Formats: sequence, structure tokens, C-alpha cells
Amino acid sequence: MTQARQHHIQVVAHRGASEDAPEHTLAAYMKAIEDGADALECDVRLTADGHLVCVHDRRVNRTSNGRGAVSALELADLAALDFGTWKGREDSAESPDWGDPSLTSVLTLERLLELVADSGRRIELAIETKHPTRWAGQVEERLLRLLGRFGLAAPATAAESSVRVMSFSARSLHRIAAAAPTVPTVYLMQFVTPRTRDGRLPAGARIAGPGIRIVRNHPGYIARLHQAGHQVHVWTVNEPEDVELCARLGVEAIITNRPRQVLSQLGRG
Ligand code: G3P
Ligand code: CA
Repeated sequence: MTQARQHHIQVVAHRGASEDAPEHTLAAYMKAIEDGADALECDVRLTADGHLVCVHDRRVNRTSNGRGAVSALELADLAALDFGTWKGREDSAESPDWGDPSLTSVLTLERLLELVADSGRRIELAIETKHPTRWAGQVEERLLRLLGRFGLAAPATAAESSVRVMSFSARSLHRIAAAAPTVPTVYLMQFVTPRTRDGRLPAGARIAGPGIRIVRNHPGYIARLHQAGHQVHVWTVNEPEDVELCARLGVEAIITNRPRQVLSQLGRG
């Protein structure tokens, strides 16, 4: 168990329990819920016919048996693909069996929201907008409309919100803040830049989302973010020594492909 743990750290399943099951599928999110994750991370993209789907890459080539850009495909095209078989191919000559094919078909954000609503416990959602500039506000508009249908677009306060929106794009976070000021936003960072060096974040973001490399290389930066009044949610934290470092620095959330192992290291599994 990690020795330095003194506060509650939220454990967020990155793309679901994506080490054990194919990322961004129902199989991966159901496993994360079963493992006891506090929150689920997902990336969202718009299909050619305007549906928000949970897919990380611009193209479906890596994670499905199809080809092409998500933005050029309709939901029906994506629904015909298998998003599960690729996972595990590296380790075995046999195709892995993920059970019911609906568990590894394309996952819409709507279906993921239903899964969370039906889970019977509070599970938070950290939704990342991917390439929002290409769609001139449509990603955020459709996202907030969908969240509104689940009663999640206008929490009384940010602290009460069970959903947050993350992005590397300040413009995307601006759009969310303008239309839904109480939905918390997370500014994702791959590097410390002149813009963020002093601990302040653009677009009124409440939460900082540094990559683990920032934390390893600039551990003092976490204190600066805290002093500036921000929570710190770190991605993607898979190694025990990085979990230990994050706990020691007092981060509020750890985003990981291995929720079960991280919970166990934090003494919660
Ligand atoms: O949780 C933030 C993290 O997911 C950002 O990186 O490439 O995995 O979406 P990526
Ligand atoms: Ca992501």
C-alpha cells in the first residue's frame, strides 16, 4: 500500500479498464465499474451524421476492423465494425473472446451515460473533447445537449457536478464555460508552457490535467497549481512508483488504465 496516502484520491478509469479490455467499449467500462473505479474517462468525437461516439484516434484503424476517419463515417457504418478483436492480438495467436458482440461494438456517449445512470452508485464522468476546432462548436453544443437530457448540464455548483469536460483546447473549454458555467472544466497539459508556468490556467478552467511526465520532471509545479486554487488530475498513471509520487504530491485524481491495481495500491481494493 502507498505510504504517503493521506487524502482521498479519485481513481479514474482511462478509456475504461483499458488494460484489461478493449478501450472505449462497454466491456472496458463495465469492468471499470466492477473494479470500483470512482470515475470513467472517455474521448468523444462526432460522426458524419452528428453522433458523439467514444473513440480516441481520428481514425478507427487501430481499434477496429474498419478503416477511415470517424468524422467521415456515419453511426451505422461504425456500428457494423468490431472494436474488440484487436485487443490481445499482440499476446496471442487466437482472437480474444469478449463475449456478447454488443460489448465491443462502437460506444455512443449516450450509451455510456445510460450505463453510469444505471450503475446504482455515484460514478463521475470525465469527458474529453477531441479535435473540437474542426467542428466549430458542434462538439460542445451536442455534448451539452446530451448532458442536458440526463440532467447533467446545469449542476447547482461545480462541486456537485458528476461530469467534467476536459480538453487540450482552451477554445473548447471556453465554449463549455460560456454555455454551462457550473460544469467543471479540466485544462489538459502535455508540457508546462509560458502560459501555464505560474500555475494559472486558461479559459477559467478549475482543474489542471498534467501528463505524468510533467509530474515526474517538475514535481514542484503541482504545489504551484494547488496554490493557484486548482485541483490536479494526472494522466495516464499506470506504474506503482508514479501512483506513489502522485499520492505524495497530494493530487486529487489519478487517471489510469489499471483502476483495480491503483485502488489496491491506495488501500481501497
Ligand atoms: O485523460 C487525459 C488523457 O486521456 C489525454 O490523453 O491521448 O489519452 O486522450 P489521451
Ligand atoms: Ca483522453
